[in-house]
Amino acid sequence: MFHKISVIGAGNVGATLAQRLAEKELAKFVALVDIVEGVPQGKALDMLEAGPVYGYDTRVMGSNSYDVIRNSDLVVITAGLPRKPGMSRDDLLDANTKIMTDVCQNIRREAPNATVIVVSNPLDAMCHVALQVTGFPHQRVFGMAGVLDTARFRTFIAEELDVSVEQVQAFVLGGHGDTMVPLVHYTTVAGIPLSKLLDAASIERIVDRTRKGGAEIVQYLKTGSAFYAPSASVTEMVESIVKDKKKILPCSVYLTGEYGINGLYVGVPVKLGKNGIEKVMEIELSDAERKQLNVSVEDVRQNVEKLKTLVTA
Ligand code: NAI
Ligand code: 2OP
Repeated sequence: MFHKISVIGAGNVGATLAQRLAEKELAKFVALVDIVEGVPQGKALDMLEAGPVYGYDTRVMGSNSYDVIRNSDLVVITAGLPRKPGMSRDDLLDANTKIMTDVCQNIRREAPNATVIVVSNPLDAMCHVALQVTGFPHQRVFGMAGVLDTARFRTFIAEELDVSVEQVQAFVLGGHGDTMVPLVHYTTVAGIPLSKLLDAASIERIVDRTRKGGAEIVQYLKTGSAFYAPSASVTEMVESIVKDKKKILPCSVYLTGEYGINGLYVGVPVKLGKNGIEKVMEIELSDAERKQLNVSVEDVRQNVEKLKTLVTA
C-alpha cells in the first residue's frame, strides 16, 4: 500500500478513480483536488462515508488547495476540459495546456518525488507538458490511454465471439487519437490468433470501432466523455506500480530511440513497477503496422509542435 495517492481534478474521471483506489485500498490516503469550491471536499467525504459499508480504511480527503497532496507517492492528473460531440481530443490543446501547467507547477512544489500519471487530453501532448513543467525523470511521468484503447478492443472482440473478455489478449499502440494502432497479429483469444477466429472484414470493423471508441461514448453522453473504463484503466496501472506487479501494459511514454522514435511521447508496451516505467518492450512490427504507427506518431508530433508556443513554465 502507498502512503498517499493524489488525484487532481474531481470530475467524472477523477472522482471515479479516487473511489476505485479507495475500494482497493491502494493507499492509506487518497487526496482529491479541484478548483471548484466544495466539490472535492464533498465528494471525498461521501467516499469516506462509504468505507464502513464497503470495508475500506483509506482516508479520502478533498481540497481546493495543493497542501493536501504534499509528499504524495503518486499523482494522477485528470484536471481539464473533456470534449463535446464534434470535437476532437486535439481541440482541447490550448485550454488544457494552461490547466496542466498550473497543476504541474503545484505538483513540482508539493510532491517532488511522486510518479505522475497523466490522463487529461490530448493525452500524448499533455504528457510533454507534465514532463517539461515538473522536470521529473521521464520514467516517472507517463500517460494512460493504451490500457483504455486496448480494453475497448478486447470488449468488442469478446462481444463478437461471445467469449469472456478475460481470455482476449491484445495491444493498441500509438497516440491516443483516431490513428491509434490496434495490433491484430498480436491479438489472441485463449491463445488462438484472432485471424483464425474472425474474417478480415469483421476484424477491420472492430479495429475501426476501437479507434472511434472515445467518440462513440461522447455521442451518447453529449456533455462529456467516458469515465468508467478510463478510471478502471488508470487503476490497473496504479495497482501494478503500488504492488510492483511489473505488468506489461501499453502506456504513453517518452521514447529515446525505441521504435526509431526520439524525444516524443507515444503509446507502447512497457513494464510498470514500483519505479514507474521499468522497461520499454520493443516488439517486432509488420511493415503495415510500422506505417500506421508512423502516421500516429506524426499526429502526436504536430500537437507537440503547437505546444512549443503555449508552454510557459
Ligand atoms: P470533467 O469535466 O468531469 O472533470 C474535469 C475536472 O477538472 C473538473 O472538475 C474541473 O473543475 C477540474 N479542473 C479544471 N481546471 C482545473 C485546475 N486548474 N486545477 C484543478 N482542477 C481543475 O472531465 P473528465 O471526464 O473527468 O475528463 C478529464 C480529462 O481527462 C479530460 O481532458 C478528458 O478528455 C480526459 N480523458 C482522457 C482519457 C484518456 O484515455 N487519456 C479518458 C477519459 C478522459
Ligand atoms: C476517451 O477515449 C475521452 O480520451 C477519452 O474516451
